[in-house]
Amino acid sequence: MARTATVNAPGKINLTLEILSKREDGYHDLRSVLLPISLYETVTVTERDDGQITLETVGEGVDTSELGNCPPEKNLAVKAAWLMKDISGTSKGCHIHITKRVPIGAGMAGGSADAAGTMEALRALWLPDVDRKQLVEPSAMLGSDIPGLLYGGAILMEGRGEIVTPIFDEGEKAAGCFWLVIAFPGVAISTKKVYENCIPCLTDRSKICDNAIYSVRKGDVRAACRYIFNGLQDTVFNQYPETKRFYTALGNGGALSQMLSGSGSAVFGLAESKEHALEIQSQLPEGTWSKVVQTLPDSVMAAHGPLTP
Ligand code: C5P
Repeated sequence: MARTATVNAPGKINLTLEILSKREDGYHDLRSVLLPISLYETVTVTERDDGQITLETVGEGVDTSELGNCPPEKNLAVKAAWLMKDISGTSKGCHIHITKRVPIGAGMAGGSADAAGTMEALRALWLPDVDRKQLVEPSAMLGSDIPGLLYGGAILMEGRGEIVTPIFDEGEKAAGCFWLVIAFPGVAISTKKVYENCIPCLTDRSKICDNAIYSVRKGDVRAACRYIFNGLQDTVFNQYPETKRFYTALGNGGALSQMLSGSGSAVFGLAESKEHALEIQSQLPEGTWSKVVQTLPDSVMAAHGPLTP
């Protein structure tokens, strides 16, 4: 029987996202506090003896029809598997099965989570003696969010996303998590298109990022509300006005503060507690795709068996 490994790979929100400047390579230098959330993609890899890499995706509560337009070789999980095959030098291939729960084109890094989950699952099979953190650097070639997600836990992302610094020291326990409501307007947004139209701004690190990090370390949601920031939000609200409507709905529903996640289209509203988040969710217009989730300050992504037949 073929060996398999499964990983629950979390999506994310950006508590802050400062777009500092446009670079010569077309990317933007940014500074972002990335928080994984309790909405997971389940990635199962099964070894193949023929060296091929194949993919099957099923949606659980999310529309995956967008994926039909993307050839498998362009899928981030498939690219991640080829990278792992290359790094490990194995002649094996794998079948990747993904249960998607993170909406597509939502700014919550569902595709990047698939890639990070695939890398972690194949690390367990093909490179069991290698620490996951050693794969963070090569993962950057796949996409800007992948290093942070692969590292795991609350992260400060810098550069184009590839410079990752954990917000908690080794062994340090978070004082608490944040509860939030995510609302997805149902439009898939192209990150590239948003970045092409955004206006970079040299924001003040000490005012935004350092304070936001402090709020995460303290688990202080009221403090976090004062510092949440997204330098892409105005661009997205202009390009996709429906995102603004969901932002307003979260505010009207009683969110402490609300913000676009990444390049959108999802917006999140911060809550005092799980009960408060459920109350906000109940106020959203009928038919809204929404989820109550918590942030995951500590790294939770790990491959689990059965690894052997
Ligand atoms: O790195 P990734 O493939 O996720 O980025 C998608 C697009 O978003 C890039 O092609 C680029 O246009 C834009 N981007 C950027 N600066 C970043 C990250 C992404 O301009 N730091």
